[in-house]
Amino acid sequence: MKHSAPKGTFDIFPTPSQPKDIWKSSHLWSHVETVFQTIAKSFGFELINTPIFEKTDLFLRTVGDTSDIVSKEMYIFEDKASRSMALRPEGTAPVIRAFIENNLIQTGSLHKLFYFGPYFRYDRPQAGRYRQFHQFGVEAIGEKNPLQDIEIIDFCMQAYEKLGIKGLEILLNSVGDPKSRDRYKDALLKYLKPHFESLSDDSQTRFHKNPLRILDSKDPKDKELLKEAPSILDYLSKDSENHFQRVLDALNLLKIPYKLDQNLVRGLDYYNETVFEVTSNVLGAQSSIGAGGRYDGLIRNLGGQDLPSIGFATGLERVIQTMIGQKVALPEKDKPSFFFIPLDDKSSLFCFEILHVLRRQGLFVKMLLKQKKMQKALQEASESGAQFSVILGENELAKHAAQVKNMRTRESFEIPLNKLAVELAKLVH
Ligand code: HAM
Repeated sequence: MKHSAPKGTFDIFPTPSQPKDIWKSSHLWSHVETVFQTIAKSFGFELINTPIFEKTDLFLRTVGDTSDIVSKEMYIFEDKASRSMALRPEGTAPVIRAFIENNLIQTGSLHKLFYFGPYFRYDRPQAGRYRQFHQFGVEAIGEKNPLQDIEIIDFCMQAYEKLGIKGLEILLNSVGDPKSRDRYKDALLKYLKPHFESLSDDSQTRFHKNPLRILDSKDPKDKELLKEAPSILDYLSKDSENHFQRVLDALNLLKIPYKLDQNLVRGLDYYNETVFEVTSNVLGAQSSIGAGGRYDGLIRNLGGQDLPSIGFATGLERVIQTMIGQKVALPEKDKPSFFFIPLDDKSSLFCFEILHVLRRQGLFVKMLLKQKKMQKALQEASESGAQFSVILGENELAKHAAQVKNMRTRESFEIPLNKLAVELAKLVH
């Protein structure tokens, strides 16, 4: 029986042969992760790694038991001691759990952390939506200044730009502080009540449990109805209004374009004040490439201090698919500097020793371990993209000189065996 990866998951591997799988190329993943990491470090974020599973309760308490993620999409299992565990569906709650547990608060007043890895949501798989997906995320803990909000937005836009992605749109809203939200909830319920019967089933449930989430509805009839709904921006408290205005002012100052979206509430319960989503025009239905927002009450809610915080996460599948969809010039795979072609056992040992020396200098070097006919071997060297092939056989050993071929110019020359490692290294340094 042939085995296949579970539904909604995929492999990341070198050189996929099908065009539809190019986004799974491991070198593209390394490239994107490196760009995000490099830019995160330049913004002062430091790496944090948390386990891929947590106690289920962590997500119930933070993401919220009425959110889709928790109510429908979590991979939950009992461990052997009958404790309920969940594969992490997102990164913010685990980071905050780790922040509190490891007493990171002691290390300063502002804590800037980044993370990347696999996350799990049991949803109907479709293009751009997977059951195991990968996020790169950042969290800034301890700062209420609206400039911190902008720094997070600036970080992600800079990373997308560095990757060559264009035409992204930032959707922005404020969900205010708890006081603002309570006032708004009342207004929204009042507006929706006469239309209750025409709401979708999901929205009817949300009407009682978590009315703000109705704004998230994808149902066309709900959407139509919501066009006339009151805007949360008209119900912000003075403080929330002030905060949001300063966010808008700073975005204007940096000339970062955005679009206000009064229905953007995000599907996770921990948000307050600024929320945003970045959308890509080539992703189809799953257009959100990244998203984030403030979650000022979350740390206190988990038993820590009252620290304002904001963060963001991007889906790496969607980043790479957007790059491909927009025909961004993709980075090439690393190519070897040298491709060694030994023609017999004695030459093979000699080459292996030189390989060992060159690799210790950090060079990317390949060698054929299986001896092949010259033409086949050269074809393989050429396919590997090597700059030079180094040929060594009985004749070369007798002459005490290896034959070196520049694979681009096709020019061949000899290098004495006693200087081979030194002279080869000079060719590429
Ligand atoms: P989120 O909006 O649930 O936010 O996810 C962020 C990004 O992860 C999405 O924009 C999307 O690119 C990607 N994503 C989510 N689900 C899937 C999926 N099933 N398949 C592929 N990609 C997916 C969060 O997770 C928050 N923790 C973000 C955050 C950080 N807020 C504050 N700090």
